[in-house]
Amino acid sequence: MSLSLYAARRRAFAEAMAAKGRAVAVLFAARTFLRNNDVEHDYRQDSDFFWLTGLDEPDSVLVLRTGTEETAASYTLFVRPRDKEREIWDGPRTGVEGAVGTHGADAAYEIGRFAEELPKLLEDRDRLHYRLGKDRAADDRVLGTLDRMRGRGRATTTTPSEIVDPSVILHELRLRKSAEEIALMRRAAEITAEGHATLMATGRPGVAEYELDATLLSTFRRHGSERVAYASIVGSGPNACILHYRAGNRRIGAGELVLVDAGSEYGYYASDVTRTFPADGTFSEPQRELYQLVLDAQEAALAATKPGATIDGIHKETVRVLTEGLVRLGLVEGPVDDAIVEERYKAYYMHRTSHWLGMDVHDVGLYYVDGHARPLEPGMVITIEPGLYVSPEDRKCAGRYAGIGIRIEDDILVTEGGYDNLTKAIPKTVAEVEAACAK
Ligand code: GLY
Ligand code: MN
Ligand code: MN
Repeated sequence: MSLSLYAARRRAFAEAMAAKGRAVAVLFAARTFLRNNDVEHDYRQDSDFFWLTGLDEPDSVLVLRTGTEETAASYTLFVRPRDKEREIWDGPRTGVEGAVGTHGADAAYEIGRFAEELPKLLEDRDRLHYRLGKDRAADDRVLGTLDRMRGRGRATTTTPSEIVDPSVILHELRLRKSAEEIALMRRAAEITAEGHATLMATGRPGVAEYELDATLLSTFRRHGSERVAYASIVGSGPNACILHYRAGNRRIGAGELVLVDAGSEYGYYASDVTRTFPADGTFSEPQRELYQLVLDAQEAALAATKPGATIDGIHKETVRVLTEGLVRLGLVEGPVDDAIVEERYKAYYMHRTSHWLGMDVHDVGLYYVDGHARPLEPGMVITIEPGLYVSPEDRKCAGRYAGIGIRIEDDILVTEGGYDNLTKAIPKTVAEVEAACAK
């Protein structure tokens, strides 16, 4: 994304802060985490920090001071210093010069000067936008600075007296996706589509779940995705009923379904897709019955998706179709209205239908505003992911459906006229899935 886009985001953030007086925001980059001994986990920048800066380095801090009618907001970055020795090991660093030259900061300092410079940046501000509780070491530095400033007690300067969570503003901004963000999400969706299609073509009995996991990662990476948006779920047979199952070493058995919940991340934007397919290429009768039911529920949910609709309303639609089907098949006792009120469907459908999607797979943004389910608006992106999971021990209908787990999940952009399914290219109907699985 271009530098001007990050500048526009900072402007929007600063303007929203300024609406309530003189403010300053302090956001820390994500920390690095040790995995074991001296090996670190792969680094991924904090989404809020990246959204505002486009900078993917640790040990960095952003400070944004609101402007006035006459003056623009000021953007200060603290970054790691250039270091020939360290850069031989870890690669180039942006450094103070790059923070100004490349990242457009009005001022930049080495991170070692943070304690010295922060008081000057907090001065004459009434409100500090800082997310307390996320990183205790960072809290200590910020709160310690505030305390020392108060102690100095100079009558001529103001020390911020209010600390507010920057996410109140930032997450509202992140919730509505711009054209540039939607383009990245479309690319993530395309790459994810390749991964799912490849698995349908290659996932056959005898193949281990971890092999499919490896294929997903290799497909995503080959197309330029930096990483998975979340740990891929590849559940064969009864493992499909474990909601957060991770790819394991079980081998796919004959006649089984494989549930794959996997999405690539591209340019820091997530996709989140589930498909369930028959390993030998054709659904058995009971598998097909449940699959079609989940698909019908998803279609009903999609039909209900438009500006003004709510995630709660979409969930209710889904629950109604699923419950009608469960009663019809004999898995849940009717009548349907009672089964819904008493939540009998929850034995088979125990999760929600949708969540926000964006930089984070479970993206930021309030689901309720003033106690009411928030109406969808064009530019918001949600998942629609109904499923049914029949435990292997379930003896209903003489065990006809025991051990079948199915979920179908797509990424849905809300548009003026309704919605655009970003992941519609991935085979989904019974006929499409069977064709994609033909070996
Ligand atoms: N993959 C996580 C989810 O579907 O919400
Ligand atoms: Mn999801
Ligand atoms: Mn998912």
